[in-house]
Amino acid sequence: MKKIKLTPRLDMIAQLVPRNSRVIDIGTDHGYLPIFLASEDNGDGSSVSLTQREKDDTEEPSPCIAMSLTQREKDDTKELSPCVAIIASDINEKPLAITKKNIIKYDCVNKIELRLGSGLKVLEYNEVDVIIIAGMGGILISEMIDEAHDILTDQNILILQPMQAQKELREYLIQSGFEIIKDLLVKEDNRIYEIIVAKEGKHIVKDEIYYEIGFHLEMNPKLLAIEFLKKKKVSVNKIISNLVDSSSSDAENKQSEYRRKLLKIEKILLKHNQ
Ligand SMILES: C[S@@+](CC[C@H](N)C(=O)[O-])C[C@H]1O[C@@H](n2cnc3c(N)ncnc32)[C@H](O)[C@@H]1O
Repeated sequence: MKKIKLTPRLDMIAQLVPRNSRVIDIGTDHGYLPIFLASEDNGDGSSVSLTQREKDDTEEPSPCIAMSLTQREKDDTKELSPCVAIIASDINEKPLAITKKNIIKYDCVNKIELRLGSGLKVLEYNEVDVIIIAGMGGILISEMIDEAHDILTDQNILILQPMQAQKELREYLIQSGFEIIKDLLVKEDNRIYEIIVAKEGKHIVKDEIYYEIGFHLEMNPKLLAIEFLKKKKVSVNKIISNLVDSSSSDAENKQSEYRRKLLKIEKILLKHNQ
């Protein structure tokens, strides 16, 4: 079986998927992530296939399980592929066609179910454990979650990788009853990407600045966290210098707001540098 090599960003997302989970990759585009998950080592080389899960194979059979384990005892599952069901979805037909080609190329036929549609609307209640939405804007991601609250359970893990509006996404999640359990950074081609892992729960916010820089910066390698904070400082400084040119009172208020933000980032940076 050909093995796909993921870029560091997608690889970090893949590593966050718990073993034996039912997973969907929304906005899959090329399908690399689901293909990687589907082609993980199955331990003894046994195959996972698209047959209907046998009734006694699971305590709570889902009507929509795409991939199930055939002829396998329950206690064997810990040695199997990280996922027991993989769905790749996209709003556009073209990316799904590319994903289909890649599925064939990487010998993953029958291991991934393709679904055409927008966001979480392609899912039914409690159909998956893990929801991955990567490579899209934070606002779009929050809209997708917002319009599909009724299909989520309190066990769902959301692995989100917003390209912009990370702060707005964290605000949305916490205001909507999610707890952010991980804030991870990954560097690829000189850009630092933020990965947010959330699940249903109460999140206590000690300071607004954490919406901006994440609540769990300490989970990351020290040097990467420092580089990330320095980049944040540069972008806040840029906003301040743009505001300096404007003389409106609104701009002055914004300037003071961003100066306060800058001071907080500098303080956190100082702590990380120790
Ligand atoms: C930039 S690509 C990201 C691909 C991949 N997830 C990654 O991180 O490398 C964005 C993909 O999301 C899809 N997309 C955009 N809006 C969507 C929506 N509302 N629901 C599902 N997919 C969507 C696009 O068609 C495109 O294939």
